[in-house]
Amino acid sequence: MIPRSSELDVSRSSTNSMLDAWQVDKDSVAIDKHTVLGKGAFSIVYKGHLKHESQLWTNARRKSVILALGMAKAPRMDVAIKVIHYNPAQQTSDTNLGINISEYMREILLMKELGYHPHVLNLIGWMTSGRAPSLILEYCSKGDLRHYLKDMSEYVDMETKQISTGYENFVGLKDLLRISWEVCDALVFFSSKKLVHRDVAARNVMLTDKLVAKLGDFGLCQYLTKEPYPVKRPKLPIKWMAIESLQKGEFSSKTDVWSFGVLLFEIFSIGETPYKNIENMKMLLHLIDGKRLEKPDLCSEQLYDLMRGCWNADPTNRPSFEEIRGKLSNLIEENSQDDYGYIQFLDIPEI
Ligand SMILES: Nc1ncnc2c1ncn2[C@@H]1O[C@H](COP(=O)(O)OP(=O)(O)O)[C@@H](O)[C@H]1O
Ligand SMILES: [Mg+2]
Repeated sequence: MIPRSSELDVSRSSTNSMLDAWQVDKDSVAIDKHTVLGKGAFSIVYKGHLKHESQLWTNARRKSVILALGMAKAPRMDVAIKVIHYNPAQQTSDTNLGINISEYMREILLMKELGYHPHVLNLIGWMTSGRAPSLILEYCSKGDLRHYLKDMSEYVDMETKQISTGYENFVGLKDLLRISWEVCDALVFFSSKKLVHRDVAARNVMLTDKLVAKLGDFGLCQYLTKEPYPVKRPKLPIKWMAIESLQKGEFSSKTDVWSFGVLLFEIFSIGETPYKNIENMKMLLHLIDGKRLEKPDLCSEQLYDLMRGCWNADPTNRPSFEEIRGKLSNLIEENSQDDYGYIQFLDIPEI
């Protein structure tokens, strides 16, 4: 169900609301401040675990998330805790802090509305520490896809298209296609809810211990039915943004399709930075000139055609996420039937 705009109105939600069934008492969560899982523009994400299960079962929707994640069977419910990262020394006024807090409340409200999906990073709850809210998220032990690919790239010889032995977190081409399919599946779900993610990138895809991909970071996400939400982030994902977003500030599911094409480039170049020799300021002219990312060595012509389709200057000519998911399914199937020809991994260890 698409929430009415009032249901997503941050100004109506208090960070101290006692009525919110998703709110968790901060004493029921242990945060391991020594284990930083990652950092973003506004946040630090720590590892933690839930101490008192009973409190968590009071909310039926949270209960269904915990059951769906299989966390209830775990001896200890590990979680990731996304904490607002604000340095009082750098804040000139409470207004600045207020902006950060309302951004976080938007993210929490959106995640609560979203409901469970196997390829979306699920919210377990939220809590306040001091004046700032923190998100309690399902824990993804393999971290984010960008770091994962970067680590893997050291073991891949692009010329011979071989991966050296001894790499523990091995994935082959079929896994890369499967991971792409899973993120696309999350985006089919998003677009069906008239939601635009606006920050689809490998850094915002998390991997579980079984290497299942989950799309996260809803900080820039918005409903298409609402007025455009002004982006207050210090950094915009310029190199992932569609030509019309850079030109006219327009966002739609088709601009997410463009970003998904860039994510495919990140995946099949094994973590290469897109347009690495082009400055952000020059990106719009570069795209207006008709230039696009080159075909990564490990990518087939078919897959590159799919990427190029995502970067069509006319958004109406870009494929939908349903179409992309169908094409990825076909590629996975073909890849299961033969060895797909252009990547050979040696001595595949068990994962
Ligand atoms: N649930 C999680 N499990 C493991 N690592 C996570 C999780 N959530 C976030 N991270 C790590 O923290 C980083 C920042 O999180 P993100 O939600 O993208 O924050 P920001 O909104 O500040 O960009 C991610 O790129 C990832 O490395
Ligand atoms: Mg992020």
